[in-house]
Amino acid sequence: MDLLSKIQTEFIGLDTTYKLATGEGSRRIYLDSTASTLMMKAAHSAIEKFYQHYANTHSLLHFSAKISTQQYNWAHERILSFLAADPEHYTCFFTGSGSTAGINRIARVFRDYRPDRGTAFVSLMEHHSNDLPHRKHARKVVHIPFEINSGNPGCIDLETLEKELERHKSSASYVAITGVSNVTGIINPVYDIAELAHQYGAFILVDGAQMAAHLPVQISGHKNPARNIDAFVFSGHKTYVPGSPGVVICRKDILSALEPEEVGGGMVDQVFVERYTISTNFPDREEAGTPNIPGAIGLAAAIEIMDTIGMQTIYEDEDELIRYALDKILAITDVVVYGDTDCTRCPRAASISFNILGMDHGLVAAVLNDYYGIAVRNECFCAHPYVKEMIRDYLLSRVGQVDFDDLNINLKIKAGMVRASFGLYNTKEDIDLLVAALNDIQTNQAKYTPLYHIDNHGNYVHNQFDMTAANPFSVRDNLLKELEP
Ligand SMILES: Cc1ncc(COP(=O)(O)O)c(C=O)c1O
Repeated sequence: MDLLSKIQTEFIGLDTTYKLATGEGSRRIYLDSTASTLMMKAAHSAIEKFYQHYANTHSLLHFSAKISTQQYNWAHERILSFLAADPEHYTCFFTGSGSTAGINRIARVFRDYRPDRGTAFVSLMEHHSNDLPHRKHARKVVHIPFEINSGNPGCIDLETLEKELERHKSSASYVAITGVSNVTGIINPVYDIAELAHQYGAFILVDGAQMAAHLPVQISGHKNPARNIDAFVFSGHKTYVPGSPGVVICRKDILSALEPEEVGGGMVDQVFVERYTISTNFPDREEAGTPNIPGAIGLAAAIEIMDTIGMQTIYEDEDELIRYALDKILAITDVVVYGDTDCTRCPRAASISFNILGMDHGLVAAVLNDYYGIAVRNECFCAHPYVKEMIRDYLLSRVGQVDFDDLNINLKIKAGMVRASFGLYNTKEDIDLLVAALNDIQTNQAKYTPLYHIDNHGNYVHNQFDMTAANPFSVRDNLLKELEP
């Protein structure tokens, strides 16, 4: 068996079963990897083995301290080489529990590095985590729309980006762009965008939260250096290691010019009462305090495996699955899939968002869970502007069938989608089960609707089936059972 096929079956939680509203037990079908992926067993076992040697990396001279420090250093190097970032010019550091902390950090770094250039260009496709930090920290944000009514809806509008860069060229600070949309799965041409940004003196920050685990990344070493990326951020919990930290890869020359954002232990050489001197070593100077050492090492272990399989191989395998899913979902009566669905013209990774016309996304997601054990996400996926504009675009494209007066009402009460998202472990069988469930839900709307009510938080709740009572789980109860004599 090849490594990819072997690893695909080795994740914790693939055989978790839940009791459904029908009373039957059913294996969970996990289609929510864009939110968080499941844990790769090999990474989990690497962390367990490492715990035998665990020690603080700020200790120096005992065996475990040496081993911990060595392994923690390896984690940084492994990630740099995974993303093809030249260690001479780039550093990798861990921060926070996902991409959000890293994006906030880089927004402040770019602002402070060039105070005379205050304008950030942020696409409207972004997750709030790659939009709000720029609104808060950059002096000015210019939002770049995506294409609508264009034949390839949902893709960033590069012409407008160029016009805005030209218009603000004296103040252009950086472009912040997602590598892959967490709503539509559309893959952005980040290297073309880097070239464009650099032409106008702007840096580029790539939000790699949905990119790192799904396709090859090349931060540096492009034939044309203008295509290199200045800063890249991703989340370990979306890269098959829940509990691992967020990761930032950034040009050292930019970071070196500033005092690190966070200060404390581990990032200084000397501290006197009246002053302190900051370490010139990377990544130490960017990692104040004791880091999440086991999480970082587990993440590097998962990355070692993915790199051994080859990210191009992983991308191609997932591309086949996404095309299969798109074809099947598009064939369901009255389903609208958002974003360009021609994967040759507009490649996607990981996510497909859709609605069943006339049905609330919340009801569809609840029925998928309660009657089929299929875990999906619904609502706006922390990307309100993108989701709302995509829905508006769809409704406008149906003018004649949709009453214009209903547009706002529709947007207010129906803003949201259902998102099915995929990871290494998903199979065509998972897609077939999803599609069969959606066909049933679409055909039997009238049967399912009266079985639910909407609670005070706006969520669909089954009138009779209490999902938590049917599927009890408590860490404490498990612990107490284990402690029983
Ligand atoms: C594209 C994108 N960017 C940023 C984030 C934020 O990541 P985190 O929650 O790991 O901080 C997410 C999370 O879903 C995302 O999908």
